[in-house]
Amino acid sequence: MSYTTVKAKVCDLFNLPQIPAENTILVRQYASPHPMVPEIEHHVFNVDELRDLVNWWRGTISRNIWLYGPTGTGKTSTIEQFAARLGIPVYKIGCHLRREFSEFEGRWTFKRNESGTGTEPVFNKGVLPMSMEEGAILLLDEYDTCNPSTAMAFNAVLDSQKLLITETSELVKANDKWLVAACCNSNGSGDQTGQYRGVQPQNAAQMDRWLILKKDYLPVEEEKAILENVASQLPQDIKDAMIAYGNELRAVNVWSGGGLNVPFTTRTLIAWAKWTLSLYRSKISGNTLEVALEKVLLQRGEPTDQEVMRQIWQRVNPIGKKP
Ligand SMILES: Nc1ncnc2c1ncn2[C@@H]1O[C@H](COP(=O)(O)OP(=O)(O)OP(=O)(O)O)[C@@H](O)[C@H]1O
Ligand SMILES: [Mg+2]
Repeated sequence: MSYTTVKAKVCDLFNLPQIPAENTILVRQYASPHPMVPEIEHHVFNVDELRDLVNWWRGTISRNIWLYGPTGTGKTSTIEQFAARLGIPVYKIGCHLRREFSEFEGRWTFKRNESGTGTEPVFNKGVLPMSMEEGAILLLDEYDTCNPSTAMAFNAVLDSQKLLITETSELVKANDKWLVAACCNSNGSGDQTGQYRGVQPQNAAQMDRWLILKKDYLPVEEEKAILENVASQLPQDIKDAMIAYGNELRAVNVWSGGGLNVPFTTRTLIAWAKWTLSLYRSKISGNTLEVALEKVLLQRGEPTDQEVMRQIWQRVNPIGKKP
């Protein structure tokens, strides 16, 4: 599909007023809406992370990025929302141990023949050649759960920017705008926490093809902006307590070297705020904040994890400030 580009101010596009207005970026506009360009949703961008993404988009250092971090830090959604704002199609595929490289290339299927008397085989290109040809983003979600030898088959494509489709012998050349993002819970050296079963240690030669970027949970001010969007009606001290509690739990999570096995994610924070608000609106009596917390978090994990989470909550709980 053909597109034109228009210049946009980075500060406006990503709602980051601290970026100088003279910084511009090219946004794609397809002649008719492209089905693979993600819808724009509310998303809080971090200025340092955005700088890395823009460098990736420009191809300054590498056109292959490996974003890793604990669950729910916003790895997948950040790539999608970056693309949404720049009008770039995203070909996302969930990876797992048994995915074969041929599934990335495409697969045979049948279509009705021209005379309408029967069917004939046709090869449907997969996410890899489609994203290459269009200069789109290939989003390899949970890529570190791939069998390491399957992942090794990407080396040749990343190096040569070409793919010879095994089944059809068609040679696909990557458009020079092609971008690849792997979103993972590990940096390729396997799961160090015991929390991310299914993650496979990857081959060092494979890892050398990626720019590895760490994705952390957002700073307080940015999480405040997220809560402002999903639950602005909640009192500020309640929202602050939610964020403070989340950060206390993160500090003692196994990922940070502590003992807690249950992650407090951005997903959890949003779910907690939405639950609290909906209970509050339904005029449910009692401590709505705590009831909602029970639903979104406190039933998870081993009894010892639950105990730790409850103890920390008792300390952080803004008593007397219930919504
Ligand atoms: N910066 C952000 N602004 C707004 N919402 C966010 C932000 N980061 C994350 N979220 C929200 O948090 C949830 C989790 O984000 P996402 O799925 O991108 O995390 P992830 O890091 O890919 O997690 P996983 O490792 O489990 O795949 C989503 O609902 C997403 O919309
Ligand atoms: Mg993800």
